[in-house]
Amino acid sequence: MLTRLADIEAAALNELEAIQDLKQIEAFEVRFLGKKGDLTLLLRETGKLPEAERPAFGARVNEAKKSLGARLEERKAGLGRQALERRIREETLDATLPGRPPLGPGREHLLPRTTDEICAIFAKLGFNVETGPEVEDGFHNFDALNFPPDHPSRDTQDSYFLGEQLLRTHTSTVQVRVMRRQRPPIRMVAPGRVFRRDATDATHSPQFHQVEGLAVDAFGKVRFSDLKGTLQTFAGLMFGARLEVRLRPSFFPFTEPSCEVDVQCFKCMGKGCGLCKQSGWIEIMGAGMVNPAVFQAVGYDPAQVSGYAFGMGVERIAMLKHGIDDIRLFYENDLRFLRQF
Ligand code: DAH
Repeated sequence: MLTRLADIEAAALNELEAIQDLKQIEAFEVRFLGKKGDLTLLLRETGKLPEAERPAFGARVNEAKKSLGARLEERKAGLGRQALERRIREETLDATLPGRPPLGPGREHLLPRTTDEICAIFAKLGFNVETGPEVEDGFHNFDALNFPPDHPSRDTQDSYFLGEQLLRTHTSTVQVRVMRRQRPPIRMVAPGRVFRRDATDATHSPQFHQVEGLAVDAFGKVRFSDLKGTLQTFAGLMFGARLEVRLRPSFFPFTEPSCEVDVQCFKCMGKGCGLCKQSGWIEIMGAGMVNPAVFQAVGYDPAQVSGYAFGMGVERIAMLKHGIDDIRLFYENDLRFLRQF
């Protein structure tokens, strides 16, 4: 057994010299010094020896373990030093490279900023800000707003349906929600995201933003002229000048009469230019007097109340105001674009 001990020691020392990295050191430790290592196993066989020889043999094995352990630690330290030296040699650092410029503070995206500007103007005029869910039902998006059952915009072509529900196609849904839970007088604006199955191009996006407006009071107290005056004030504050507003007849199922709202071109002041396509006018929103059928749908008596409503696209307002010619720029997160505002 002493010969076996000598063989194991010799093999271990040989192997230790050949070891090149720390991983191999671990395997070595397990193999020779571990609980099931060669030396430990040999020590367990001490019992096979005549009793008189046992203590001396045990002491020899333990000595061997100790000295092998010491050699192992030395080798470990040596390999660690080598590895560190190699890293220092390989990882060169070019201290002359210029530093990376810091990103700097961020800023608000133009869309929420425009939304806030719009709402702040109406807040000054006494309107509350209301919100509603983006996932809606047919009642709030269509039925209560007097869309006939066969109206083409109910078609899956225009709306994203989610089973029985859909992504709202406009923020007019919030009118319905507010009127159902509140009695007049109401003055509210509702900003939010809306969704339509439109192909993306310079002026269309399947997802965009609107601000809806609604004013309802006792019958006769809210008139078409109030609508015009409010929108005139809005246009002046939004586009920064005293601009004329013009209402053109139009159609929406939820308003009667309905109109398209044009503002005098703020670029040429109405003389005619590229922005207004030489007409002197720019369309900024749809509006009208709330249709009695809508009052009925929300549980109001159309003989007791009257109101006006309007709805505008936030992207469109921002594009007009800042001379942006492609709606996609809002969503591409190109800092060169975003930083201009
Ligand atoms: N909901 C309309 C749309 O998405 C916009 C609109 C037009 C809203 C007229 C109104 C309104 O409240 O009176 O195109």
